[in-house]
Amino acid sequence: VGQENINTDIVTLSRFFTEEQAKYPDASGDFTLLCHALQFSFKSIAYYIRRASLINLTGLAGSSNTTGDDQKKLDVIGNDIFISAMRGSGKCRIVVSEEEEEVIKFDEHPNARYAVVCDPIDGSSNLDAGVSVGTIFGIFQLPDEVLGPNKDVGPEHLLHPGTSLVASGFTMYGASAQLVVTMRGGGVNGFTLENSLGEFILTHPNMVMPSKRSIYSVNEGNSSLWEDWTNEYFHSLKYPADGEKPYSARYIGSMVADAYRTLLYGGIFAYPADKKNPKGKLRILYECAPMAMLFENAGGLAVNSRMERLMEVVPENIHDKSGVFLGSHDEVQKVIDMYNKHQ
Ligand code: AHG
Ligand code: MN
Ligand code: MN
Ligand code: MN
Repeated sequence: VGQENINTDIVTLSRFFTEEQAKYPDASGDFTLLCHALQFSFKSIAYYIRRASLINLTGLAGSSNTTGDDQKKLDVIGNDIFISAMRGSGKCRIVVSEEEEEVIKFDEHPNARYAVVCDPIDGSSNLDAGVSVGTIFGIFQLPDEVLGPNKDVGPEHLLHPGTSLVASGFTMYGASAQLVVTMRGGGVNGFTLENSLGEFILTHPNMVMPSKRSIYSVNEGNSSLWEDWTNEYFHSLKYPADGEKPYSARYIGSMVADAYRTLLYGGIFAYPADKKNPKGKLRILYECAPMAMLFENAGGLAVNSRMERLMEVVPENIHDKSGVFLGSHDEVQKVIDMYNKHQ
């Protein structure tokens, strides 16, 4: 009987961060510690999502958040897990979460140099059906002048464009938990949670997305509210010029899951601004900007409903929303061309 080919030299997420840190001799190791706390929160959230139907964690919490969503029980639990992990890391000074109206400050860690934004459970309307959901995060570094006791931090230290993020990523809780992370100026790497080991293992090194693919992902139920150019764009995908194949539609309704598929297979994911929601639905700080960074670093493009680069959009308030188009380079270029034709 032949022996199985066993890989005894596995790259775990911890090893990955340690090796990344070694590239920067001046690095304090704080970022690595913050990331250890992040990955613990993902494992923990994954655990409760998988047990939800068994331990009465399905359904609504009975409250709503600042952006008007009814909170699920797991939205609240995911938020609490995330915030505790960030507080416990000792390296995080302030957090913005979809589920918290105001920023959360950790005054007990006045020297912590990181600010973290997060959507603890993205796609929570899918939770009770066992459909994939995720956690989105972005990390900013605070300026030296706000470090130390008696210094105050606030939303003004987080109202920055995606270009200021030092890292971003998401974990998708699907058939397996998939963590995708990128750092400023770096590539995109994907990890799979190996449940028996309890470790995220590097399974998708240097992710580069296809430059085009005929798949579109949008909530088409909103089309009567779309602007004319948006309707003409999606129509053009379904009714292409003679001889060309129409696009396939794929819409999960969890941005993380739709974005993960789009990163792997290519295509376009959109949540356009419309007549009812002229500012769009998805939130700039903890949904749009982290995703835009991942897409750009994987070779794709990300723009808002005015065709501005999403990475450069500066939110005025922590829960501000935006229209979004993320995808393969050539697919987003088609959106831009259609928009320009209508100006
Ligand atoms: P969240 O569950 O974090 O509030 O985000 C929901 C978002 C996003 O995941 C998804 O792309 C979109 O809402 C789906 O919205 P529709 O149900 O309007 O299509
Ligand atoms: Mn929500
Ligand atoms: Mn979300
Ligand atoms: Mn959410």
